Amino acid sequence: MRKPMHGTTGALLLVGALSLEGLFLSALFLTRDNVFAGPSSVSKVVDPGDAAAGRSLFNGKGVCYYCHGVDGHLDKRPELAADTAALIARLNPPPSDLRNSKALRLKQDKQRAQAVREGHPGTGMFPDTTMTNQELADTLAYLALIRKEGRTGPQ
Ligand code: HEC
Repeated sequence: MRKPMHGTTGALLLVGALSLEGLFLSALFLTRDNVFAGPSSVSKVVDPGDAAAGRSLFNGKGVCYYCHGVDGHLDKRPELAADTAALIARLNPPPSDLRNSKALRLKQDKQRAQAVREGHPGTGMFPDTTMTNQELADTLAYLALIRKEGRTGPQ
């Protein structure tokens, strides 16, 4: 019989499970990218971040909206499988409100880029290894936009 999980071990297991799911998703994306990526995707030139492209990434390939809500509105939860939603609901600390600039801890894009690339230490936010540098720049531009918009931004 399975014992109910509790305390730190339970939390760690949950975060572990979520990270695994992240890796699994990443693997899917990697496969997809390898199939479809044309020669242009290896270009190292990064244009200034495009917030509209960043929004699509945030609510799509980047999987950010799973935890941070659609368009960064924490109360706009996407439809997720029940077990995934339960794992996210139990994250401690909970996902940040990316529209509340006062409550955010990271102050520079360099730190934010690191959080996306390497994961956010001590939290359930797993590393995103599939974004190109351009996609990362676009995501950062979108994060800047929603910080500026605040909670009253487009719903
Ligand atoms: C598995 C859930 C999860 C996913 C997916 C996720 N995050 Fe997070 N994120 C968190 C948690 C949890 C924190 C940390 C909250 C804290 O430290 O209080 C966090 C923190 C952050 C921070 C730092 C906030 C600060 O205090 O300055 C940024 C920026 C961020 N996430 C952006 C993103 C972006 C962009 C994506 C998609 C590429 C993403 N997150 C995907 C859960 C997630």
